[in-house]
Amino acid sequence: MGGIQNVAILGGGVIGASWAALFLASGKSVTVFDPAPDTERVVRAYINNAWPALEELELTHRATPDALTFVDSAAEAVAQAEFVQENVPERLPIKHATYAEIEPVLQAGVIVSSSTSGLTLEALQDGWGNPEPLILGYPFNPPHLIPLVELTANEATGADVLDRTEAFYHDVGKVTIRITKGMAGHVANRLQAAVWREAVHMAVEGVASVEDIDKAMWAGPGLRWAAMGPTTLFHLGAGEGGLQAFCDHFRDTFNGWWDDLGAPKLDDATIATLVSGMTDQAKGQSPKALSEQRDQMLIALQVAAAKHR
Ligand SMILES: NC(=O)c1ccc[n+]([C@@H]2O[C@H](COP(=O)([O-])OP(=O)(O)OC[C@H]3O[C@@H](n4cnc5c(N)ncnc54)[C@H](O)[C@@H]3O)[C@@H](O)[C@H]2O)c1
Repeated sequence: MGGIQNVAILGGGVIGASWAALFLASGKSVTVFDPAPDTERVVRAYINNAWPALEELELTHRATPDALTFVDSAAEAVAQAEFVQENVPERLPIKHATYAEIEPVLQAGVIVSSSTSGLTLEALQDGWGNPEPLILGYPFNPPHLIPLVELTANEATGADVLDRTEAFYHDVGKVTIRITKGMAGHVANRLQAAVWREAVHMAVEGVASVEDIDKAMWAGPGLRWAAMGPTTLFHLGAGEGGLQAFCDHFRDTFNGWWDDLGAPKLDDATIATLVSGMTDQAKGQSPKALSEQRDQMLIALQVAAAKHR
């Protein structure tokens, strides 16, 4: 679907602005609708700020940040669009009202991909007369820096919509996965939640400081997980025998650890433990400075990894 040129962005907040930057960097023409009065200034500022990162990721060679238009309604935004990324607020009535407005004016074959974090495809489909164009294209924030997009389609989705959506996202440099069974949080958020649960448990139990638990992640498994997923890495953990040998060898060890993992609650006492640990750890560094450092490292990792994929 490399042929897609015109993309509409509905909702130019945190996620919509980031998608807009990525699509522009990939050489698309982007039309944005957001009813907030200051949208154009805010989105243009976001894109200008993101552009150097997109250049470093070598995504901008076909592109200009100027192929950007702002319009006054969702219907106008989608009129010429071949692909629509919907990022309106996470409230079902707002999503449904948006779909009701655009459905009559969509061109044949257009895909509408919703960034929704928590609403189900079925709930969103209820807002359509014919939901064939709709798919979930859930990005990992921020979409212009993190490659992952989790896709959800079902039997009411148009026959080729999943394949064409995947091709479009690949064309703009994303890595997609297909969700084959709906679960709260999809895949990536559940993985994060599982790991963080144990980090919090260990902090509360005093196994190590919040800072050292974080360090154990970024200096250890986190670095390996940026290269390959956990199951593939364990496939490499027992020599020629691969994953079967690894599981045979470590079956009892993992079953024992799994039985022992914690189940903390984010109650006031737990939150206080985390916040005071975080305050000590981040002393002297503002969240803004830490965010910039994080983004620079994310870019550097991806540029380096691209040489080996
Ligand atoms: N923030 C995240 O980390 C994250 C991550 C992945 C997905 N998402 C999803 O992305 C979507 C947008 O989230 P966000 O964090 O960007 O929210 P946000 O509040 O930053 O942005 C929403 C934007 O939609 C605009 N808006 C309000 N009504 C509208 C309408 N009728 N038509 C068009 N635009 C309208 C608002 O003015 C605002 O700018 C949600 O579905 C959310 O679940 C968010």
